[in-house]
Amino acid sequence: MTASPKTFHVKSFGCQMNVYDGERISELMAAQGMTATGEAGDADLIVLNTCHIRERATEKVYSDIGRLRKHARKQGRGPMIAIAGCVAQAQGDEIARRAGVDVVVGPQAYHHLPALVARAARGGLGIDMDMPGLAKFAALPARRKVGPTAFLTVQEGCDKFCTYCVVPYTRGAEISRPWTTLVDEAKALVDAGAREITLLGQNVNAWRQGDRDLGALIRELDHIPGLARIRYTTSHPNDMTQGLIDAHAHVEKLMPFLHLPVQSGNDRVLKAMNRSHSRDSYLRILDRVRAARPDIALSGDFIVGFPQETEAEFADTLSLIDAVGYAQAYSFKYSPRPGTPAADMAGQMPAEVMDDRLQRLQASLNRDQAAFNAATVGRTCRVLIERKGKLPGQLIGKSPWLQSVHLTSEAKIGALVQVDLIRADPNSMAGAVGMSAAA
Ligand code: 5AD
Ligand code: SF4
Repeated sequence: MTASPKTFHVKSFGCQMNVYDGERISELMAAQGMTATGEAGDADLIVLNTCHIRERATEKVYSDIGRLRKHARKQGRGPMIAIAGCVAQAQGDEIARRAGVDVVVGPQAYHHLPALVARAARGGLGIDMDMPGLAKFAALPARRKVGPTAFLTVQEGCDKFCTYCVVPYTRGAEISRPWTTLVDEAKALVDAGAREITLLGQNVNAWRQGDRDLGALIRELDHIPGLARIRYTTSHPNDMTQGLIDAHAHVEKLMPFLHLPVQSGNDRVLKAMNRSHSRDSYLRILDRVRAARPDIALSGDFIVGFPQETEAEFADTLSLIDAVGYAQAYSFKYSPRPGTPAADMAGQMPAEVMDDRLQRLQASLNRDQAAFNAATVGRTCRVLIERKGKLPGQLIGKSPWLQSVHLTSEAKIGALVQVDLIRADPNSMAGAVGMSAAA
């Protein structure tokens, strides 16, 4: 085994919660005096922060480990390999046995990584798959420097048990971080450079403290000077409280964007998925959201080819998409996850049927995304500059509706710039800097 690693590289897969965890892991290792490398191949310690939600995630982890080892052997080095994230939580013991990795750590235990790495450096196996709830947050170092957009995890876990989903098993029960901690952390993020905060949670709108809901928290964060924008993701329809909907009407900093997964437009399928909302109740929620914030951009998640889904049931999903007009959305072929109820259901769909349905669904979503973007041409809005583009003088930022906007300007990263949206390109908007640069 290698001696104590001096350099590290974190590779995150999957959802924004994992991106957040990956950032916190990097900060943690940096606080130990280690240096991040740009390439995994150059690091003494490689952390694979894995995702278990779809596809053959475990197979992918094995092949990644194999590839990393081969590359390392070529260079005559043997990096330490740590498996973190949801695959570690779901299959850590097997991975440790089969793949011969050095460290296995679950999503609620990664604050112990330094100790686990130290154990591995002494030749042992560092393994921790405990689920101690929120313990890691208190143990992680404070964030001193962040970019213009920062994540803040307010809630973890899920109690919904949709029949296709592993999250309740890998991330544990729903649990909300306390109000004062969150307000303090949000202020610290703004002091560290954030202009936009995205509140994160597997079921972010299930955040509660006593009778306060996510809407109340957002109204509190609204008062933080220097914070310009608030977003949140991902939400469940059943947790869309009136308080949160009202926040969309009253809190100017809350951006007009809502990611509200629906998965299917057919009631029988929704029931089999244990979604506990119907097509109609979902559409009625969107009506209320639109009444509060007429220009809101809507996003969703869809699964095609759930066991026994008929062509007529799939057609209901297409008609729901037509009815909503999403600004963007994510869509997936159903993937049986070991240990979930749907994996054992009769009527698993053939791959060709799933491929065909996914193609048709995505054609609808692409059509609506193009229509949404086209409809914003001619609007003036503020764009938060996030990074430089490839061309000289080009900057890339986000519109309030989460579109990527490309523009040419002298503005600094982190500036909010008044922009005219002048053209919809296939994957972004073209913007021109208007007469007045806003603060
Ligand atoms: N198969 C396909 N898609 C899934 N998702 C979750 N579990 C599965 C699965 N087993 C999708 C859902 C969810 C998103 C994060 O991933 O659409 O909203
Ligand atoms: Fe998975 Fe359903 Fe929970 Fe979302 S709400 S994380 S899909 S179980």
